[in-house]
Amino acid sequence: MKTAIVTGAARGIGLATTDLFREMGWQVAMVDRDREELEKVAGARENTLAVCRDVSNPQDVDAMMRDTLFWSPTVDALVNNAGVAEFGPIEDCDFTTWRRVMETNLDGVFLCSQAATPALKASRGAILNIASISGLRASTLRVAYGTSKAGVIHLTKQHAAELGEYGIRVNCVAPGPVKTKLSIAVHSPEIIKAYHDSIPLNRYGSERELAEVICFLCSDKAAYVTGQIVAVDGGFDSTGVGLPALRN
Ligand SMILES: NC(=O)c1ccc[n+]([C@@H]2O[C@H](COP(=O)([O-])OP(=O)(O)OC[C@H]3O[C@@H](n4cnc5c(N)ncnc54)[C@H](O)[C@@H]3O)[C@@H](O)[C@H]2O)c1
Repeated sequence: MKTAIVTGAARGIGLATTDLFREMGWQVAMVDRDREELEKVAGARENTLAVCRDVSNPQDVDAMMRDTLFWSPTVDALVNNAGVAEFGPIEDCDFTTWRRVMETNLDGVFLCSQAATPALKASRGAILNIASISGLRASTLRVAYGTSKAGVIHLTKQHAAELGEYGIRVNCVAPGPVKTKLSIAVHSPEIIKAYHDSIPLNRYGSERELAEVICFLCSDKAAYVTGQIVAVDGGFDSTGVGLPALRN
């Protein structure tokens, strides 16, 4: 049985990814810092291990690998999904806010990838990072979030460049808007409507639609794909001049 580590697995895109891996016959080490939610959802799922750790803390990340390798001696994929979203004007983004976003969204991806690399070398496994369309294109109110996700996109390419010779593939999914707790907290009804207007497919994505691409890129079906950034965004990123006013 193959093993994946999924961070931020207690809800949202991480939970949907856990469920799809299990449907594919994999087992999943579910990592999250929300102990109550994590134990509830992991307890209801076979072939999972609840790993209550914070990906932004180096000691926790070492412990995450120890817990996982004790449970499963091999690891075939790491999905760096844990993320936080805090939106606001540049002048209101103090250093504490900046660091809070960076430490989970960017430091966490670095730390988990570093810690998992020996196991992934042994299995010739895969790393899949979750960025955002906010890391592909700049927009207002995302000075910390957008910059952290642009960092994740470049980190993906750095890791792909260096780890390819060990057979480790490293790819990145950049989601467009998906209705999860994270986006509900920062998307007002006006923002939701504006997204619908600007997205060629005219709607938000689902957690499952994200999971399908994430799990594909981790699987042997994507055996010759590495260093790629795949926007799963209903076409949003491809339509720089796709103004709603120009549509039928
Ligand atoms: N939902 C969207 O619209 C959207 C769009 C673009 C990108 N994303 C990205 O997708 C990923 C998942 O988002 P989601 O919407 O499912 O979020 P969510 O808030 O529903 O779930 C995120 C999970 O990560 C956990 N988490 C956060 N920080 C952590 C840390 N330091 N250590 C361990 N666990 C931590 C949370 O407890 C939570 O369970 C994030 O990286 C997010 O930035 C989401």
